[in-house]
Amino acid sequence: MATSTNLPEPMESLDELATHAPGRIAEAATVAELEEIEAKTVGKQSPIAAARRSLGSIDDPDARRAEGLRINEIAMALTADLDNRRRLLAGAEEDAALQADAVDVTLPGRLPERGSLHLIQQTMDEIVDIFVGLGYTVATGPEAETEFYNFTALNIPATHPSRMESDTLYLDYGTEEEEVLLRTHTSPMQARYMEQHEPPVYVVVPGRAFRADAVDATHLPVFHQIEGLAVDENITFGDLKGTLADFAKRFFGPDTKVKFIPHYFPFTEPSAEMHAYTNGEWLELLGCGMVNPAVFEQVGYDPSAVTGFAFGVGAERMAMVRHGINNIRALADADVRILEQYR
Ligand code: PHE
Repeated sequence: MATSTNLPEPMESLDELATHAPGRIAEAATVAELEEIEAKTVGKQSPIAAARRSLGSIDDPDARRAEGLRINEIAMALTADLDNRRRLLAGAEEDAALQADAVDVTLPGRLPERGSLHLIQQTMDEIVDIFVGLGYTVATGPEAETEFYNFTALNIPATHPSRMESDTLYLDYGTEEEEVLLRTHTSPMQARYMEQHEPPVYVVVPGRAFRADAVDATHLPVFHQIEGLAVDENITFGDLKGTLADFAKRFFGPDTKVKFIPHYFPFTEPSAEMHAYTNGEWLELLGCGMVNPAVFEQVGYDPSAVTGFAFGVGAERMAMVRHGINNIRALADADVRILEQYR
């Protein structure tokens, strides 16, 4: 170290040591450096030790005692300097070590990334919640469905084109008499639910549906619907319109206008499409209608005792209209940059 190599050779005299050592001690920057200075100041190789060794060669006892006292005074003074400096340096080094080791408890913690529900799930939950708020219960049904519940029980004729393999995905589990398919809509739960429950019925059925469609900007082979069914005494088309108009207002906002355009579904009569006026244009939202008495007969309800309405809402459609999404593929993509926008 600089200080040690700078020590003059040959060994300095005791007077020189007494003059220069205090400055060197004061300049020592670390405890280790100080220890080197100490060895050369009061250690075995120091002028102090050399002076003590040569005491014996002073013959005059008074002169020897005086020289001994002088050596001790210098040694004590330098030892005191060394001790003071050591205390100071050790304290500073400990402070520095503690500071280097310190944990800043005021730093914000590292938060784990949080996931969220997919926009389609959020949309279905929200739609279901609106109807639960109106007193409806929630049911779910099988995605692998029989041809009977998907078509026949819903008054869809045996020759209807939607039954063809170009439209419907059939599974290998079925038989000639009872084909099994991936349900093409959530409507089969209308029949299943009515078979299991006596009227009045107020139920919504969220779920997945499947069609043999190629993917394009408005079609996915797997999509989501919320089926609704209300059956009671004296339910009218006015009830249908009031309920669905209220639903549209709750979902899109209180100023939302709706209109009903005549349509055809085998399981409702009359049938309609509901369109809503949002973002400056009329958009088709859902299919609906009064439950066809033929369906009531299928499930064992007395068509002269009850009436009802049914509707089927597409979850993708509702999400796209609300958020101005013009390509349905964005909803099937695993691209988190898109999905993160809808937390
Ligand atoms: N199931 C029909 C569809 O998928 C929608 C619908 C449901 C229509 C209930 C009328 C009543 O297009």
